[in-house]
Amino acid sequence: MAHQDALISEDILAYLKTQEEKSLLRFITCGSVDDGKSTLIGRLLWDSKLIFEDQLAALSNDSKKVGTQGGNIDYALLLDGLQAEREQGITIDVAYRFFSTDKRKFIVADTPGHEQYTRNMATGASTADLAIILADARKGVLTQTRRHSFIVSLQGIKNVVLAVNKMDLVDYAEDRFEEIKAEYAEFAEKLGLENITYVPISALEGDNIIEKSANMDWYQGPTLMNHLETVDNTSYLHESPFRMHVQWVNRPNLDFRGFSGSISAGIVKPGDEIRVAPSGKTSTVKTISTFDGDLPSAEAGQAVTITLDDEIDISRGDLLATPDHPPAVANQFAAHLIWMTEDEMLPGRRYLIKMGGNTINAQVSELKHKINVNNLEHLAGKTLELNEVGYVTISLDKELPFDPFEENRHTGNFILIDRFTNATIGAGMIKHPLRRATNIHWQALDVDKESRSEAKNQNPAVLWFTGLSGSGKSTIANIVEKKLHSMGKHTYTLDGDNVRHGLNKDLGFTDADRVENIRRIAETSKLFVDAGLIVLTSFISPFISERRMARQSVAENEFLEIFVDTPLELCEKRDPKGLYKKARAGEITNFTGIDSDYETPQTAEVILKTADLSAEEAADQVIEYLKNNDYI
Ligand code: ADX
Repeated sequence: MAHQDALISEDILAYLKTQEEKSLLRFITCGSVDDGKSTLIGRLLWDSKLIFEDQLAALSNDSKKVGTQGGNIDYALLLDGLQAEREQGITIDVAYRFFSTDKRKFIVADTPGHEQYTRNMATGASTADLAIILADARKGVLTQTRRHSFIVSLQGIKNVVLAVNKMDLVDYAEDRFEEIKAEYAEFAEKLGLENITYVPISALEGDNIIEKSANMDWYQGPTLMNHLETVDNTSYLHESPFRMHVQWVNRPNLDFRGFSGSISAGIVKPGDEIRVAPSGKTSTVKTISTFDGDLPSAEAGQAVTITLDDEIDISRGDLLATPDHPPAVANQFAAHLIWMTEDEMLPGRRYLIKMGGNTINAQVSELKHKINVNNLEHLAGKTLELNEVGYVTISLDKELPFDPFEENRHTGNFILIDRFTNATIGAGMIKHPLRRATNIHWQALDVDKESRSEAKNQNPAVLWFTGLSGSGKSTIANIVEKKLHSMGKHTYTLDGDNVRHGLNKDLGFTDADRVENIRRIAETSKLFVDAGLIVLTSFISPFISERRMARQSVAENEFLEIFVDTPLELCEKRDPKGLYKKARAGEITNFTGIDSDYETPQTAEVILKTADLSAEEAADQVIEYLKNNDYI
């Protein structure tokens, strides 16, 4: 290591070159506040001597101040970015550290063990090759050990180390170690974890971390560092079928057209046949080029540009694959989903999905069950809350290529993104494609929307009334319908209260049920528009997201959002059904405006300020709008 120090100061380029040539292992450490996780990472960094001077100075100062180790250096204090843990005793975010030894370089993600931080742990685990799960020798396999192991298995981490820490506190007893090992092995089998290495350690005393411990002669396995330096973390990727997502189409001039990306699995050589997904077109690899020239072959982990023998259509986001083991191409799949945001996951709501290089619309069509992360029990549920894990069906707006996550972590994962805030709200691991919908073809009918509308001599449209309960939606919609009817127009009204007696009688007023309520109404309106009718809908429809979905389900000029803008106080004063009174008394819950949100429309074509208008005047305003814009 002294050799390295000299290199850093005398020949930084030579140092960087040696770093470049070493293989990289990414790992994560999982454990709770007092399992000794931070002490372990501190010890690994300390003993590999890659702590810089200023960090050392700060550390010995802090150790004196905090004094948790009686004036000795406290390795836990080595990890920066952990102010909160120092103050409150918990780690609250993922901290990444880089270190290296003569044999390998490492990136370690230190993730919190506290229960509500499943999200952070999953983030740290998503790119890791190996996980160190810490257990306290005195306590054995705890609920949290099971939780960490489950998330590690969900994230497809192939190598697991169960580090039985604090062996010094159980007199370095072999039988205690064997007991914990047996208990863990039984649980790990249920999870399908395969490559597990068990190491008895003391992070505080340094036993079996770098050097073999003199206190545990009975242990024949590798030290922790030994194992980290030698574990094989890439061969399975090289043996997997070839996959490369096209990140960009490289076309510097008319004579060259290459497809650039990182190979996520397998090996490719000039002359290999490849298949493009989703199109299914095939061709043969002509060259594989990099900055340093053409290669005779390339493998997982390398960034390359591939040229082909044929001029076939390939675009960004397409997946190049081997033809004997092509990926699935489908618009539906089953997956595990980890929910990462405060707003609950709502089946039926539109989210953006990002998988491979593609970002498209998607929805969680069904939550099959939730999984208790502590004991793997399946639980019934309608939504997912922050840090919950569910088994779900996802449907996409179009077909995309992918693999089961088990087979390939790169082509089998996805994230969900909020359409408004652009925040990542969920992370998923694909189980298998679902092909249910692919046998149902849209029946082309000879009598179509145009001919039906023509026969009625009108332009079909949806008049979407939205507003609080008691705002006057139904009253105004009813007058508008009468007026249209007297003009000879063909209409139909879908009214919240009525529909909830039939089509939607299974739905209540949770956010999830309201989303489903509006989804069905949007679909029904679409059918009625197809029938050539002018449809009036009268629903609170409190969420922007679902109103937008309803708008997008018909053609651009076929949708009118009519905001019945009545202040809450006025609705409450009118209280036509006595519901506000009940809601205030706590007899009804989830009541819009009281303990459930109403998101004010931002795109309404018509706004009716009913505080200053009679219902008749408000209806006239709608008719006026329809006339001025050539609807009638
Ligand atoms: S929506 O939010 O899903 O669009 P919808 O318009 O169908 O609601 O139903 C609203 C009507 O249901 C209200 O006008 C009211 O009569 C009745 N209702 C009963 N309970 C509630 C509640 N908790 N919140 C809102 N409306 C309720």
